[in-house]
Amino acid sequence: MEMRNDEEDKELLHSQAHIWNHILHFINSMSLKCAIQLDIPDIVNNHGRPMSLSQLVAALPVNPSKSRCVYRLMRVLVHSGFFTREKISETAEEEGEGYLLTPASRLLLKDEPLNVRPFLLAMLDPVLTKPWHHVSEWFQNDNPTPFDTAHGRTLWDYAGHEPRLNHFFNDAMASDARLVTSVVVKDCKGVFDGLNSLVDVGGGTGTVAKAIADAFPELECTVLDLPHVVADLQGSGNLKFVGGDMFQAIPSTDAVLLKWILHDWSDEESVKILKRCKEALPSKGGKVIIIDMKVENEKEGDDDSIETKLFFDMLMMILVTGRERTEKEWAKLFADAGFSDYKITPILGLRSLIEVYP
Ligand SMILES: C[S@@+](CC[C@H](N)C(=O)[O-])C[C@H]1O[C@@H](n2cnc3c(N)ncnc32)[C@H](O)[C@@H]1O
Repeated sequence: MEMRNDEEDKELLHSQAHIWNHILHFINSMSLKCAIQLDIPDIVNNHGRPMSLSQLVAALPVNPSKSRCVYRLMRVLVHSGFFTREKISETAEEEGEGYLLTPASRLLLKDEPLNVRPFLLAMLDPVLTKPWHHVSEWFQNDNPTPFDTAHGRTLWDYAGHEPRLNHFFNDAMASDARLVTSVVVKDCKGVFDGLNSLVDVGGGTGTVAKAIADAFPELECTVLDLPHVVADLQGSGNLKFVGGDMFQAIPSTDAVLLKWILHDWSDEESVKILKRCKEALPSKGGKVIIIDMKVENEKEGDDDSIETKLFFDMLMMILVTGRERTEKEWAKLFADAGFSDYKITPILGLRSLIEVYP
């Protein structure tokens, strides 16, 4: 066997650790899912002060034989930034410390109006994680997505036939919509100036449109989504729901909202949707308002947000036929669909608000 020098040994062990870390990355997601299912953030929050391990164990619905495992779960969650620990007594032992929430775990509380629990539970549901086991198989077949390879149909078709997926997917979208809308209605009011009507295309169960309709009572808002999504929804006042297919026709309007729509679709499909939007708009004064990510070519932003954008791009490849786009790719879509200009405002965290003009 060939002899290695010290430097090579160091590199070998470093490589092994790097691979192990990546093999086990899913443990972060699954530990968080378990914490949510056991209501750990709510239990720690309701305690009102730093909660010791024994207090947490006593409050949890866990089998007594598993109580020692709670510490191990919490240790991972402290490491990944979802809990902190604070001294609650002068004893130097473990029990002298108590768990507290962090800003990230506050966003996982049931009573937090902007909580992202439904999004977390949906993305980590076996129906949406199963396709990840079929990615290499999909690369070698002619299915449109690994979701199709895993389930034999598209995500939208599956949601149309399986009420459980339809509900948890719509709830996940609504939870994201609440958070985004709270920023849009507060900080982007000017975007809606001068508009009399707006159609939220693929607007799900109407969370965004309802908030906009409430904030701008003069604006006539319509949600267009697939029939199974809007089937049981009743509009009121300046909000109405229409079942339909955005590839076929979009009702005439001053503005079309596309939140988290175009990243679900390929360039070809997105150009088709944008052409339908353009047909629905007046030739002057109308616009499409897009809420989606803009990914960067160069290294821009911190490592976490670059990684999150790369993950979202993969997610779009695995579940649907879409992708996340750079500014150049967005500009090409707009030009191919016959639009003349656009403006990108990066005010929504990892996402931007993009206005596109006919
Ligand atoms: C990623 S979700 C976004 C939902 C919502 N805009 C939001 O961000 O909360 C995509 C939405 O597009 C809808 N959709 C998919 N295909 C559609 C079609 N052909 N016509 C209209 N809506 C469609 C889905 O039902 C779903 O509600």
